[in-house]
Amino acid sequence: MGGIRWHCFPDAPAVAREAVQRILEAARQAIEQRGEFHLVLAGGSTPRLVYRQLAETSADYSHWHFYLGDERCLEPDDGDRNSFMIRNDWLDHSAIPEEHIHWISAELGPEEAAHLYESLVRSVLPFDLVMLGMGEDGHTASLFPGHRHDQSRLVVPVYQSPKPPLERVSLNFSTLSQTRELLVLVTGEGKRSAVQAWRDNGDLPVAMLRCDAGIDVLLDDKAAGEQS
Ligand code: 6PG
Repeated sequence: MGGIRWHCFPDAPAVAREAVQRILEAARQAIEQRGEFHLVLAGGSTPRLVYRQLAETSADYSHWHFYLGDERCLEPDDGDRNSFMIRNDWLDHSAIPEEHIHWISAELGPEEAAHLYESLVRSVLPFDLVMLGMGEDGHTASLFPGHRHDQSRLVVPVYQSPKPPLERVSLNFSTLSQTRELLVLVTGEGKRSAVQAWRDNGDLPVAMLRCDAGIDVLLDDKAAGEQS
């Protein structure tokens, strides 16, 4: 099992630039070797910077497939959906085959949506690249501290989320880890104590991620604090 590689950058836009470069390079390699690129996207403010930069980058997306690490149980056109944000900030500005966008049907509710997405994900694994954010409490995707999930499920329903809305759907730990590359983007001072706890092998959801290829954590100086 690979370890964690910590990469520090001066600020959030620099973290996003690095993520963009890594995504484009992973896509190039995946398409060259296997003809397709399967990319898992995240919600949150740090990944959002990546989408905005990608919207200004010209790339051939004809062999890319897009998935979500988690989704909020809201109507499809709700501005707080991760899918809405990603479309708005990136996909709607780029030529992307509609049938390559594989969103979670979270409007159906956590249980049904998790069940449906599980069959899709099972047919795709392993992903080529999974990009995640991390919350101030150390959550990643919609896997929150203190929540227990059936580890045999690839996709889990989430209730009583501490971050709105209450109901969500999330890929499970082992599913997020079945990828050729795993990136976690962490920016801002509010993340500093969770970063510290992660480095100290603390009991955080994000610290439960394991990946054969290792995990690349891209963080800015504010999140890294004195460790940078
Ligand atoms: C969500 C996300 C979540 C997010 C982290 C970090 O649905 O909100 O998928 O896991 O990535 O909370 O978000 P920030 O980058 O905004 O701190």
